[in-house]
Amino acid sequence: MCGIVGYIGKKDCTKILLDSLSKLEYRGYDSAGIAVFENSEIRVEKTKGRIAQLEEKIHRNGWINGSCGIGHTRWATHGEPSDVNSHPHGNANISIVHNGIIENYSKIKAFLETKGYVFESQTDTETVAKLLDYYYNGDPIDAIRNVISDIEGSYALGILFKDFPNKIYAVRKDSPLIVGVGDDEAFIASDIPAFLKFTNKYYLLETNEIVVLDNGKAEIFDKHGFTIQKELMVADWDMEAAEKGGYEHFMLKEINEQPSAISSTISPRIADGMPNLNECGLTQEKLASYSNIFVVACGTAMHAGLVGKYVIEQIGRIPVTVDVASEFRYRNPIITNKDLVIVVSQSGETADTLEALRLSKKMGADTLAIVNVVGSSISREADMVIYTHAGLEISVASTKAYSVQIAVFYLLAFELAYAKGAISKEECMRLTKELESVPAMLEIVLKQDVICKYVASTLVNAENLLYIGRGLDYAMSMEGSLKLKEISYIHSESYAAGELKHGTISLVTDAMPVIAVATQRNLFDKTVSNAKEVKARGGKVIFVTHNYINVDDDVADYKIGLPTIDDLLMPMLTVVPLQLIAYYTSVLRGNDVDKPRNLAKSVTVE
Ligand code: G6P
Repeated sequence: MCGIVGYIGKKDCTKILLDSLSKLEYRGYDSAGIAVFENSEIRVEKTKGRIAQLEEKIHRNGWINGSCGIGHTRWATHGEPSDVNSHPHGNANISIVHNGIIENYSKIKAFLETKGYVFESQTDTETVAKLLDYYYNGDPIDAIRNVISDIEGSYALGILFKDFPNKIYAVRKDSPLIVGVGDDEAFIASDIPAFLKFTNKYYLLETNEIVVLDNGKAEIFDKHGFTIQKELMVADWDMEAAEKGGYEHFMLKEINEQPSAISSTISPRIADGMPNLNECGLTQEKLASYSNIFVVACGTAMHAGLVGKYVIEQIGRIPVTVDVASEFRYRNPIITNKDLVIVVSQSGETADTLEALRLSKKMGADTLAIVNVVGSSISREADMVIYTHAGLEISVASTKAYSVQIAVFYLLAFELAYAKGAISKEECMRLTKELESVPAMLEIVLKQDVICKYVASTLVNAENLLYIGRGLDYAMSMEGSLKLKEISYIHSESYAAGELKHGTISLVTDAMPVIAVATQRNLFDKTVSNAKEVKARGGKVIFVTHNYINVDDDVADYKIGLPTIDDLLMPMLTVVPLQLIAYYTSVLRGNDVDKPRNLAKSVTVE
C-alpha cells in the first residue's frame, strides 16, 4: 500500500528512484511518480499505471538529471487512479509524496479554499501540500511542525522544498518510513528492500520525528525541533532475499523457503527439548495466569490465529477468541487485565491490528505481538514481542509468514499447556520434537508440486470453489480458500464441513469443485461423509489427507497425500499443497501472481 522512496547522493537519482520503487511494487499500487531536483528546479513526472509506464514517460519527456529526489507508488484511497491524483503533489516550490490517510482533510481543504487555494486532484495529499505552502515562511522544519499539528490520521511524508535544493525532509505517524544511510548517500523508504542494494543500515523514525537528508547525511529532529541521536539499525537481509533466486515468482520462492524459515523461528526457542519463550518476558507463571486469550489480526495472520485457537484450547484449556482486527476495535470487546491479547502481523504495520493493540493496552490487557518485521510499529508498541524470523516476504499472498506464525502458536500452546499442568513434561517434549521434525517433513511435501500443478489444471476454468474441513482442517480450509481467491480471482468460500448441508450444498454442481481437507483422524469419517454428499450431487472433490489413507472413488476424484505427524501439527504440512494449488491456478490463468490486482502487502489504512 503506497510506497515512498527518496534518494540523495552522487548517483543518477531518477534511475535509483525507479529501481527503488520497483522493489516496493509488492506493496500494491496503481500509479507512480517522482520529483527530482534538476538545475535547482523541482521536476515532477507521474502517471497512472505501472513503474514501467512512468519510466517510458520520463524517457519521452527527457531524463531528469539530478541527484536528489522523492518517488511514490500510489494505492488509491481518495480519488480514482489517474495522472492528476498520482503523487508527488505540490507546486513549483514544494513537492510531497504521502502514504496514509488524512482524516480531517475536508476541513483543512475548506479552510485553504478561503485563503484562495485551488485544488486540482481528489486526494487528501494535495491538502497537505497546500497546507505546507500556506505555513512555509522560509523554514521547512517550522512549516512541517505546523502541518503535523493540524493534520489528523496517518502519514509518512517525503518533501522537497525548492529553496533547499538537494535536501529531503520526511516525517511519519502510523505509516512506515525508515531512513537508510550509505557511503555519501542517504534514502527514505517505506521498507528496507527499496535501498537494500546500497545499504543495510537504517534509522527507525518515531511518531513526528522529522528527518532532513543533506549531503548523504541524516539529521533527525524531535517534534519540538531539537536534534536527536538515534540508534543505527542493521538489517540482516541481503539482496538475495529481495531477488527471486531462480524461481519464476516470489510466491514460489517463499513457499519453498518454509522449511528453513520454520527452523529459524523454532530453533532458538527450544532448549533441552522444551519450548522456551522467556526471551519476550513471557514466563511460565505469567502464561499460566491468564483467564482469556484474544488473538487479533487481519487476513492470513488472522487465519494463523485460528490455528492457534484450536491448539491452545485443545491442549492448554484456556478460552481463545479470534477476531478480525477491524471488527475487534469497534465491538467494545470485554477484556481485562487478567487477559492476554496476541496481535499477529507479518508487516507489523497493519493499521487495524495496530489500533487493536493500542485499544487492548488501554484496557489493561497484557499484549504480545507475533511479528516478522523487526522494528515495525506493532513490535515497538506491544508489551512483549516474538519475532518470527521468516526473512523478507515479498509476494503479496502470504505463505512463509503464515507458517512461522503457526509455528510460534505451537510453541506457545505447548509451553502454556505445560505451565498449566494440562500436559506432562514428557508430552510437552514429545510435541516439541514433532514440531522440530516439521522442516524435514515439509521438504517431502514440497515434492508434491506435480500433483498440485495437475489439480490446479483441473480448477483453472472454475468460477466458484468450496473448501471444507472440520476443526483444524476448517482453519486450513479458510487459509486455502483465501490464498486461491487472492491470486487466481476465482470466487471461493470455506465452510465447516458439517455446516455444508445447512445451505451451501445447494450450490454444489459439477461446475463447483470442492477441496476437502481431512487430516484430523478423529473427524475423518465425518468429513468423508460430507465429501460423499458432494460427490453424490455431481461435485468434483479434491481430498487432502494422510498419504497412507486410501480414498475411494465415491469420496474423491483426486487425493493429495501428506506424510503423517501428530494430528495437532498437521496444519504445518497441510498448508503447503493448498498454497501450491492456489499458486499454480494463478499461473495457469496468466495472472500477476506476486502482485494480485487491488491488493496491498501492507495495509496501512483502515
Ligand atoms: C494484507 C495482505 C495479507 C495479509 C494481511 C495482514 O491484506 O495482502 O497477505 O495477511 O494484509 O497483514 P499483516 O502484515 O498484518 O500480517
